[in-house]
Amino acid sequence: MTKVDVAPCGETGGAAHSLKSFGRRKGRTLSLRQSTLLAEGLQNRSIDVSQPLDAPALKRLFPESVRDIWLEIGFGGGEHLVWQIANNPRVGVIGAEPYLNGVVSAMDALVTRELTERVRVYADDVLALLRVLPPECLSRAFMLFPDPWPKKRHRERRLFSAHLLDKLAPLLRPGAEFRFASDIDDYAEVAIEAARAHPAFDIARVFTTENRDTMPDWPVTRYEEKARKQGRGATFLVLQRAVEPKV
Ligand SMILES: C[S@@+](CC[C@H](N)C(=O)[O-])C[C@H]1O[C@@H](n2cnc3c(N)ncnc32)[C@H](O)[C@@H]1O
Repeated sequence: MTKVDVAPCGETGGAAHSLKSFGRRKGRTLSLRQSTLLAEGLQNRSIDVSQPLDAPALKRLFPESVRDIWLEIGFGGGEHLVWQIANNPRVGVIGAEPYLNGVVSAMDALVTRELTERVRVYADDVLALLRVLPPECLSRAFMLFPDPWPKKRHRERRLFSAHLLDKLAPLLRPGAEFRFASDIDDYAEVAIEAARAHPAFDIARVFTTENRDTMPDWPVTRYEEKARKQGRGATFLVLQRAVEPKV
C-alpha cells in the first residue's frame, strides 16, 4: 500500500485562513445553571492547544475503551455529535465549536445522557486545534453546514477550503472519511472542486436530500432541518483521505 505524501500547508495553493469563519461567540445570556455547565464542561473536557499533543497524550484524554477518534468541526448545538457518541461506543469525539451557547447545549445533552466521558471540546477556532493534533490520529471528521457566508465579499471566510484540506489531511488516517454538507449550492460546488483538486482526498460519494436515507448513520442536524423548512435541500459529500496518490 503506497501512502500519500500529504503536502505541507500551502502546497496545494490553499490560502492561509486569517479571516474568522464564525460570527458571534455568545448568544442569549446564559443562566447560572448553563454557566456552571459550561465552566465545568470546559474545565474537565477541553483540549489544551498551547502545545502539540503527541499520539499517547491524545489517547490518554479518552477512556481505554476508545478505539477511534473522530472530529466534528462546528458542531453547533451538538445534536449530531451526541448522536454519534451514543451510537458508536468505541469512538471518542473531539468537537470544535466557538459558539458558547452551542457548547452549552451539547454539554447539557451529554451530561443528561451520561455521555461526557468520550467527548473532548475545543471551544474556539478549529484551525488552532488542527495545528496541535498528531499525524493520522483521526479516523473520521465532519463539517456539517458550515456558515455559508453568502455575500461575495465574505466568501473568503468560508471554512471549507483548500487550506482547510491541507491542514486536515495529515491528521486523517489513510482511508478515513471526511463528511461535509451544505445547503448552499455554490458552496457545495466549490467544496467538490477543492476536494477533486486536492492530492490527499478522493471523493467517495456525493448525494442530495432526495437520497439522504441511504446514509442511516448520518442524522439530520439542526441547520439541515432549518434549511428544509425554508425549502432548501442539501448536498452531502463523503471524502476519503487518499491511500494511493492521485494521478
Ligand atoms: C451554520 S452552523 C451549523 C451547526 C451544525 N453543524 C448544524 O448543522 O446544525 C456552523 C457552525 O460552525 C461553527 N464554526 C464556524 N467557524 C468555525 C471554526 N473556525 N471552528 C469551529 N467551528 C466553527 C459556527 O460557530 C457554527 O456553530
